[in-house]
Amino acid sequence: MSDSNPNSPADPTPAHSREQPEPHEEQNFPSLLLLFLCSLLIFGSALYLQRYSGGFDPLVYNEEVQGRGGPAGGATAAVDPVAAGKKLYALNCVTCHQATGAGLPGTYPPLAGSDWVNGNEDAIVRILIHGLSGPVTVNGVTYNSAAMPAFGPLGSNWKDEKIAYVLTYIRQEWGNQSPEVTKETVARIRAATADRAKAWAAAELAEFHPAK
Ligand code: HEC
Repeated sequence: MSDSNPNSPADPTPAHSREQPEPHEEQNFPSLLLLFLCSLLIFGSALYLQRYSGGFDPLVYNEEVQGRGGPAGGATAAVDPVAAGKKLYALNCVTCHQATGAGLPGTYPPLAGSDWVNGNEDAIVRILIHGLSGPVTVNGVTYNSAAMPAFGPLGSNWKDEKIAYVLTYIRQEWGNQSPEVTKETVARIRAATADRAKAWAAAELAEFHPAK
């Protein structure tokens, strides 16, 4: 007697149903767990945003907004240029010139104690607007292995205020004690150099930075 005997009683479970895949419980379990973890993550993120986003308030996220306007949108509280410039520096300059303002020897020149930063503002405003490339001598040391990016229309396209804030900051941080750079000064120099379409070479700025 064998199973292939055509005369044996019919199998109560037809072959095709016996070969169905196993029930899915084992597979459902991990996907349910995953769903639960994802929900937890989304919920956690929502809680985090609610707690730390500051309501996406421009007072938190926009360095140019410094306070609620006065009555009927009148005068706003005075901007602290050094505080605004510090934020801009941390986001835009620190990778090259470093948090200490010391730069990186041989590559990025220092801003702390720099004779350019503390010299004639006409030079550094030009450098910020259009950038600087080629050899530059800072405190007697020549740098020529990298370029300084433009923050005016050739680059990040900053407004006059932002350039003024960051320059005021670097002129008053790390022991530097040079006067504020105003947005009016930046506007004046921007207008005077409107035709410029490439970075400056330090030699072109010699009239503003007499050799010591
Ligand atoms: C990608 C790197 C890089 C970034 C970012 C950068 N710089 Fe520079 N910076 C340089 C280099 C390189 C030079 C020298 C260029 C040369 O050799 O001609 C320079 C030169 C300068 C100088 C004149 C020389 C000196 O040391 O005093 C000033 C001022 C300056 N940078 C300020 C800034 C400020 C402010 C920012 C941010 C808004 C900034 N830089 C962002 C690389 C950078």
